[in-house]
Amino acid sequence: MEKIVWTDDFSVGSIEFDNQHKKLLKIINKLFDDNVYSTYSEHISRVFTELIDYIDRHLKHEEMFLHLNGYPDVENHINRHHEMIEEFAEQMKKVVGYKDNLPEELQNFFSQWFEEHVRHDITAFRELIEEKR
Ligand SMILES: [Fe+2]
Ligand SMILES: [Fe+2]
Repeated sequence: MEKIVWTDDFSVGSIEFDNQHKKLLKIINKLFDDNVYSTYSEHISRVFTELIDYIDRHLKHEEMFLHLNGYPDVENHINRHHEMIEEFAEQMKKVVGYKDNLPEELQNFFSQWFEEHVRHDITAFRELIEEKR
């Protein structure tokens, strides 16, 4: 599985949030790195701790931003965030205990998860800009 490469297609049109998504992508891509610790599960659990922590901060920041800017659909957007977190956590459970590199199915899940998150944001940011016209 190849790492996901950032392209401008992922841009939501905000430097601040693009930078947060780039950072998120950078951490997700660590899941595809070769093990750099003594055991693979140690490597994975470190990456997950970092990911969960960053996702949490990112989503709070995003929700606050949408809210303060009067995004009308903020509640649905936040609900979808919660679902995404659950889907993420569900897959994480499968990962615990892996001794080898992540199976392709799980790698695909995490890259699709990122893409879906960003596309969901692109819609919200576009609607917000339309709203402000
Ligand atoms: Fe979002
Ligand atoms: Fe986001």
